[in-house]
Amino acid sequence: MENKTLSKIGVLTSGGDAPGMNAAIRAVVRSATYYNMEVYGIYRGYEGMITNDIKKLDTKNVAYILERGGTFLKSARSAAFRTPEGRKTAYENLQKHGIEALVVIGGDGSLTGAHLLFEEFGVPSIGIPGTIDNDLSGTDSTIGFDTACNTAIQAIDKIRNTASSHDRLFFVEVMGRDAGFIAINAGIGSGAAATLIPERKMPIENLIKRLNIRAKAKKQSNIVIVAEGGKSGGALEIAQKVKKILPQYDIKVTILGHLQRGGSPSSFDRVLASKLGLAAVEGLMYGKYDVMAGVINNKVVYTPIKKAIVDDKEVDEDDFRIAKILST
Ligand code: F6P
Repeated sequence: MENKTLSKIGVLTSGGDAPGMNAAIRAVVRSATYYNMEVYGIYRGYEGMITNDIKKLDTKNVAYILERGGTFLKSARSAAFRTPEGRKTAYENLQKHGIEALVVIGGDGSLTGAHLLFEEFGVPSIGIPGTIDNDLSGTDSTIGFDTACNTAIQAIDKIRNTASSHDRLFFVEVMGRDAGFIAINAGIGSGAAATLIPERKMPIENLIKRLNIRAKAKKQSNIVIVAEGGKSGGALEIAQKVKKILPQYDIKVTILGHLQRGGSPSSFDRVLASKLGLAAVEGLMYGKYDVMAGVINNKVVYTPIKKAIVDDKEVDEDDFRIAKILST
């Protein structure tokens, strides 16, 4: 494919960082260089677009970052970019550098930013789904989700050692602001007694019933996974409620928190990020604007950003069934 259209593109990471973002930046820089384009790194997401923290990148800048967690371009959640004045300044800075198109790596808020720049100023942009939450449609998996699930499962394995040594009931809270993907995966992958996710309310009585069944089956330790922001409350809240009903249990709570966002990306996330980095650059060359590049059934697909953000990606019903049957 020949690049006849673009000579300068910008790349940024925005929102919560995710393992594999560096691999995606590397793929964007290398692919753009391959197609004879200049690439500008925009630091701290939209915040850097407003403060003009923009620097030219070449392939040397992205050496040895494929395997590193975090994002070397840094990330931010920019309040200023939510205002029309902020976006105008951001656009003017892009103009100053002659940046003709953007690759935005991030979650729903970050992709919304790209959509607004396209709608308000006609900046051609393409999104790459980068968030541990996996809550974007138009891709089977977001960059960082696989690594975050592995991190959560490894931590829960360690908690299981101490839980079984002391016959304790642990409530482990995992990330996923409004989405239970990490929770349900960690629940199945770590053999949890129950998994509580934001998309579904599990009445406390059902949880008690599940624990009683396990007690009858002489299961001595229990791990219950709770997604943050769940409808039934966070891990601490649920633990307190259960303690009132089952005072005989020795209950502990662990909140895994931001450790799920760090670490070297898994093989899956590295490959996904690399595919999507190239797909984003080639998408821009084909004139695919205001879309997100994703992978569905192992094939690259481009979905309008508005659809990727708005369409609710559901946790698979079958995953609940598997988690429930295997927990008894
Ligand atoms: O969107 C990714 C995520 O890690 C969510 O799972 C979590 O709720 C949120 O970011 C935390 O954001 P922050 O690091 O800004 O507190």
